[in-house]
Amino acid sequence: MPNSLPSFTPVDVPGAVPLLGHLGAFKKRPLEMLSTSWRRHGDALRFRLGPKTLHLFSHPDLAEEILVQQADRFVKVYDPRRPAGIALILGNGLATSSGEVWKRHRRIIQPVFHRSRMAAMADRMAQVGQQRVAGWVHLEGQPIDIGDEMMQLTLEVISQTMFTISMAQYIDQFRHALRVSLKYVVDSVQNPLRLPGWVPTPRNREFRSAMQFLDGLIYGLLADRRRSGSQHGDLLDLLLQARDEETGAGLTDQELRDEALTIFAAGHGTTATALAWTWYLLATHPEAKARFHEEVDQVLEGRTPNAEDLQHLPYTRAVFEESLRLYPPAPVVQRKATTNTTVGGLPLPEGALVFVGIYNLHRHPAFWTNPDRFLPERWLDGERPAVRYAYLPFGAGPRACVGIHFASVEGPLLLALIGRRYDLQLAQEAVEPEFFVTLQPKGGIRMLLQPRQAPVVSAV
Ligand code: HEM
Repeated sequence: MPNSLPSFTPVDVPGAVPLLGHLGAFKKRPLEMLSTSWRRHGDALRFRLGPKTLHLFSHPDLAEEILVQQADRFVKVYDPRRPAGIALILGNGLATSSGEVWKRHRRIIQPVFHRSRMAAMADRMAQVGQQRVAGWVHLEGQPIDIGDEMMQLTLEVISQTMFTISMAQYIDQFRHALRVSLKYVVDSVQNPLRLPGWVPTPRNREFRSAMQFLDGLIYGLLADRRRSGSQHGDLLDLLLQARDEETGAGLTDQELRDEALTIFAAGHGTTATALAWTWYLLATHPEAKARFHEEVDQVLEGRTPNAEDLQHLPYTRAVFEESLRLYPPAPVVQRKATTNTTVGGLPLPEGALVFVGIYNLHRHPAFWTNPDRFLPERWLDGERPAVRYAYLPFGAGPRACVGIHFASVEGPLLLALIGRRYDLQLAQEAVEPEFFVTLQPKGGIRMLLQPRQAPVVSAV
């Protein structure tokens, strides 16, 4: 347990209406509900969502208790017998499974993301980045949606590094299918009174056809790899070769599908959103942008970056870390209590629904100076947040992000690769965050791609 726990008094957030409680307000403005309520009422809050009570905890000690110390008592909310929420799409993959299945699959998947593999991954990331950026020539000087561009880029990175395939020809269909299915999932969480999935409503039919496309893509990928018998040393090989230590059985097709789709989905949207916010922050902070460009020019001298270069790009890394602080792609993580327990001395009943407010932790005035300001400098010279669990963009404990090293290389690497060629300028008024699966810029971010006069010596 943390050494000296402050005492917490839970506050019932005012404004609950009969029957529905705060459900309507959550549906309309989820981020505002989470952050404004926290600012007004404190670090331990209770909301009513219909018949359920939701506990929101926004203090590092409470985050540590839930995610680390009591990780076995606070588990993921999904039940494979009754898939709901994101599990309707991802099935029982690494992000949604629990217990022995999760443990075994995490053991299989984790080695692909080991630090020692990141240098090779970085080369592949840079190659993919280079190819896509080369195609931007015809976009120069026009407004583009930077969020959309980053999605396409990171989807291609994850496809090439984890599955050794290009998604270029399917990108639009894949992204459409993912958008449709995520919208369906968010709607169904917000509207528990909807008709069941088997009723052929237009919404249900659209969802089913999106899922058919995603299934077809993944099963096709598995079949191609099995047919060719080729070895790439990638995630797909590891998944196909995994054998149960006791029974010798491999993963079933359904398990393979769930894990592959989980990595595709979890491995690109979060990083793309983080990159989009980073470009926005740089565009709105000219001094930081100038320092970033200066560092990139000095270190790369026009070359394509590699993993080794990242050591010499501390400001670029700091920019990415600070962007993850202000706009964490996962603004909350969700758990449910498996038993009666306490958190910060507060009793919680079995089945209690809990949110750890990552967005709030990252802007908590007790743990950050100038919490709402973009100050990459705070990450330099080893100056980390004084309190360990005040910064959790990748979560914490056993369920922390498996892709943390991957994303921590990919983010700064792509920033440097793009920043050496382009100056990204904001082409719209203010941008608002919206909590839709991840913390996204509402309506996208229009930016101008302005070619720079940087010393481009050679392109690899
Ligand atoms: C900036 C980029 C990223 C952010 C901010 C991020 C954030 C997170 C967070 C907060 C969690 C924990 C969720 C929880 O505790 O409920 C998580 C889990 C996960 N992430 Fe990431 N992630 C990023 C990139 C990636 C990448 C690149 C991959 C894969 C290549 C990935 C794959 C996963 C998976 C599979 C899990 C579930 C792990 C488990 O439960 O064992 N993520 N991520």
